[in-house]
Amino acid sequence: MAEFRIRKAAESDLLEIIRLWKRNIKTINTASDIAELFYAFENYFFVAVSTSASIEGKLIGFVGGAVREEHGHISGIAVDKEYRGSGVGRGLIKAVEDEFLTDAFERVTLEVRKSNRDARRFYETQGYKPSYTIRRYYADGEDGVVYAKEIC
Ligand SMILES: CC(C)(COP(=O)(O)OP(=O)(O)OC[C@H]1O[C@@H](n2cnc3c(N)ncnc32)[C@H](O)[C@@H]1OP(=O)(O)O)[C@@H](O)C(=O)NCCC(=O)NCCS
Repeated sequence: MAEFRIRKAAESDLLEIIRLWKRNIKTINTASDIAELFYAFENYFFVAVSTSASIEGKLIGFVGGAVREEHGHISGIAVDKEYRGSGVGRGLIKAVEDEFLTDAFERVTLEVRKSNRDARRFYETQGYKPSYTIRRYYADGEDGVVYAKEIC
């Protein structure tokens, strides 16, 4: 069971966010793509930090939000494998959704690989609904499924 707290990400977290992103998400995003997103949308990046005595302060997850066409967007979310299933992902999603609401965005979208069953189940438990599929959305040819949620 992971013990953790969620806080806004800081610039000093960026290298670790990049590591978490690349370790947990099948992506062709480079470190500079991720850094670019971070600097454009820093306000919508949150990290989960362990509060367990043995690993206190360790970053165990992150979410990266963005604004796209007048709505909130989740660009990436990941929790390191050994800390999954303890509500960390749920806490991260809630943090970024709260920030979107504060800024008056009432709709949140995201794309996920069609084959990523774990993430799709996760998003569905958090109230996201599959909206449509984009054929060959990913560089390797896999389809992307667009999910959306009204958060108002
Ligand atoms: C998706 C991910 C972030 C979920 O993080 P997590 O900390 O394990 O999720 P939580 O423990 O907060 O689970 C929240 C809910 O999702 C459900 N859930 C999480 N993983 C699930 C799975 N593999 N299968 C079914 N349900 C799942 C939980 O049952 C829980 O439901 P509840 O709110 O009704 O209790 C994590 O699995 C991950 O990092 N995956 C790899 C990265 C990835 O694919 N990211 C998405 C693409 S950007």
